Amino acid sequence: MKNFHYNVPTEIFFGKGAIANLSHIGRYGKRVLLVYGKDSIKKMGLYDKVVRILEQLDMDFFELSGVDPNPRIESVRQGSVLCKKHGVDVVLAVGGGSVIDCAKVIAAATVYEGDAWELVLDSSKIVDALPVVAILTLAATGSEMNGSAVITNVETREKIGTYSTLLKPKFSIMDPEHTFTVSRAMTAAGVADIMSHTFENYFTPVKGAYVQARICESLLKTCIHYGPIALDEPTNYEARANLMWAGTLAINGICSLGQQTGWSVHPLQHQLGAYYDITHGVGLAILTPPWMRYVLSDETVGKFVEYGVNVWGLDANGDPFDIANRAIDQTEAFFLSLGLPMTLSEVGIDSRYLEEMAKNCERRTLQGFVPLTYRDSMAIYKAVL
Ligand code: NZQ
Ligand code: ZN
Repeated sequence: MKNFHYNVPTEIFFGKGAIANLSHIGRYGKRVLLVYGKDSIKKMGLYDKVVRILEQLDMDFFELSGVDPNPRIESVRQGSVLCKKHGVDVVLAVGGGSVIDCAKVIAAATVYEGDAWELVLDSSKIVDALPVVAILTLAATGSEMNGSAVITNVETREKIGTYSTLLKPKFSIMDPEHTFTVSRAMTAAGVADIMSHTFENYFTPVKGAYVQARICESLLKTCIHYGPIALDEPTNYEARANLMWAGTLAINGICSLGQQTGWSVHPLQHQLGAYYDITHGVGLAILTPPWMRYVLSDETVGKFVEYGVNVWGLDANGDPFDIANRAIDQTEAFFLSLGLPMTLSEVGIDSRYLEEMAKNCERRTLQGFVPLTYRDSMAIYKAVL
């Protein structure tokens, strides 16, 4: 296990009725920018609750609505203009990862002289930010308790993550009931995203991070157990609660501490997001099994056996490659059982931009579990065309 520093100052208010804690927003000032997506928070009555609390606190609030899934840099620019114009003190995100990510970069862009896209391209330029508060409505990205934000620039066909500890929400409200209305498809995509964050941390070349590996396995088992229940019973509180908390733990640092944290499947997926605007978790589900098959080798087989035995309960006494392949097959079968697509053509992607995407990956892909070159990325994309 490598040395690490861990500091997540985000307070979490979790559970039924947690919205009452929104009153703490008063600590951060009087003027709020309320950021949300399309109509989901209005349909579920959450918007009215938020507005009532802000009014009771006698706060002035302004709104940025219509933030897209795969949030655009234009929304960030719009939000920061509003914040500057109205002298906003705190940015309140109500929604899924897209809304929270957008709010985070708005918070930084408001106190930045240059263009917001520079903060995405170069995270070292984030030296200050307004406080961010989040009310999470979708279990998936973990944005509610981390400093990451992923923003898309449609013009340049780029989808890029930026990071600063300054972007970590001051507090997040996590009421599983707020996720009861999440569609079947988005619930499945969220489960795939949580599992992918966990895989990115679990499949690491660093030895000796035993605690982190066991936490990862628990999170994967949680998704495998509760994912199907949430699909069949969208208002099952226990399922929604466990998925929501698993989503946070998968990417709030706990699983990656002391490890080499280069990720593999996410950079491949961000290219799909940039070129085709597909749902993040769907792209991850499609790319995960071919990535696993591609990196399986004499060097990595031991980790796949660990995964197969500890997560899928496979018999440890077989041929290692047989166990590894069965574990990968089970992963694919699980995603299929959630109704997730398993090929790029199912989401409208053909070979047209594969070379460009693979080249971009090579520029950005980190030294993950197995470092990936242009050739490797091409092979993984082609395997699921
Ligand atoms: O637009 P609204 O009305 O809000 O509807 C959204 C949207 O259509 C809907 N939704 C959200 N909560 C709902 C709901 N519908 C019904 N009931 C509810 N309670 O779901 C749709 C998707 O929302 P979105 O926020 O895009 O989903 P998600 O949370 O999966 O966020 C995806 C974005 O986060 C980035 C992804 O790349 C993508 O851009 N990521 C952020 C990360 C981070 N900050 O750490 C890490 C991740 O790996 C990921 O890259
Ligand atoms: Zn993700």
